[in-house]
Amino acid sequence: MIKADDVLPPDLSRYVEQHSSNEPDFLRNQRHAAEAEMPQAKMISGAYQGRILSMLSQMLQPRVILELGTYTAYATQCLAEGLPEDGKIYTLERNLDLKDLIFENISKGLKKNQIEVIFQDAQAFIESTNLNFDLVFLDANKKQYLDYFELLIPKMSSGGIILADNVLWKGKVLNSVAEKDKITAVLHEFNEKVKNDHRVEVVMLPIRDGLSLIRKK
Ligand SMILES: C[S@@+](CC[C@H](N)C(=O)[O-])C[C@H]1O[C@@H](n2cnc3c(N)ncnc32)[C@H](O)[C@@H]1O
Repeated sequence: MIKADDVLPPDLSRYVEQHSSNEPDFLRNQRHAAEAEMPQAKMISGAYQGRILSMLSQMLQPRVILELGTYTAYATQCLAEGLPEDGKIYTLERNLDLKDLIFENISKGLKKNQIEVIFQDAQAFIESTNLNFDLVFLDANKKQYLDYFELLIPKMSSGGIILADNVLWKGKVLNSVAEKDKITAVLHEFNEKVKNDHRVEVVMLPIRDGLSLIRKK
C-alpha cells in the first residue's frame, strides 16, 4: 500500500528503484492507466515490488503459482514471468466488476495462456482445490491471512514459498494493543504465528508495506 520511500528516505528509495530493472512497457502502461482511473490503484504492487515478484519467480521457476487477490492482474503478470512452459498461475478475485479489465490486461501481456483467473472467494477456493503450490502470493483479505496460511500449508510443496504482502501495514503493527484496529491486530498475530511456526522459515523484507518470504520446510 505504501511505497518504498515510506521505509527508506525518499532519495535512497528513488536510487534503489532507478538501479533496479524497469517493468516491461506493457505493464507500465497498464499501471499508469489504472493510476489515472482507479481510486484504489495504490493496491497495485507497483514497479519495484513487481520486479521483486518477477525476480523471485524466475529464481524459483514454480510449476504452480497461486495468487490471492488479482485486482488489475499487475502482480499476476509479474509472477507469471518465472513460469516454465508447462507452468500455470491461478489467481483469485472476488470482485466481478474487475473482470473486463483483468482479461483486457492479460490479453496484452505475456504468458496469457498460462494464467487462469478464478472469480471466487479465496478461502473457498483453497478449501476446495486439490492443487499443490510451489509459490503463493497472499494479497487478498488481510483479516483472513491466518486462515489462508493454515489452509495453504498442507497444500504447499516442500520448499514452496508463500509471499505475504502488507505485513507491516503502514507501520501500524507497532501500535499498542489498545490502538490496533482489527486488521492490524490480525496482521500482527499472523507475523507472530509465522515466526513461531516450526513448519516454516520466514524472512520479513522491509520493502514497501512489508513482504514476508515464508518457506515451507
Ligand atoms: C491489494 S489488491 C491485489 C493487488 C494485486 N495482487 C497486485 O499486487 O497488483 C487485493 C484484491 O483482493 C481482492 N479480494 C479481497 N478479498 C478477497 C477474497 N476474500 N477473495 C478473493 N479476492 C479478494 C480485492 O477485490 C482486490 O482486488
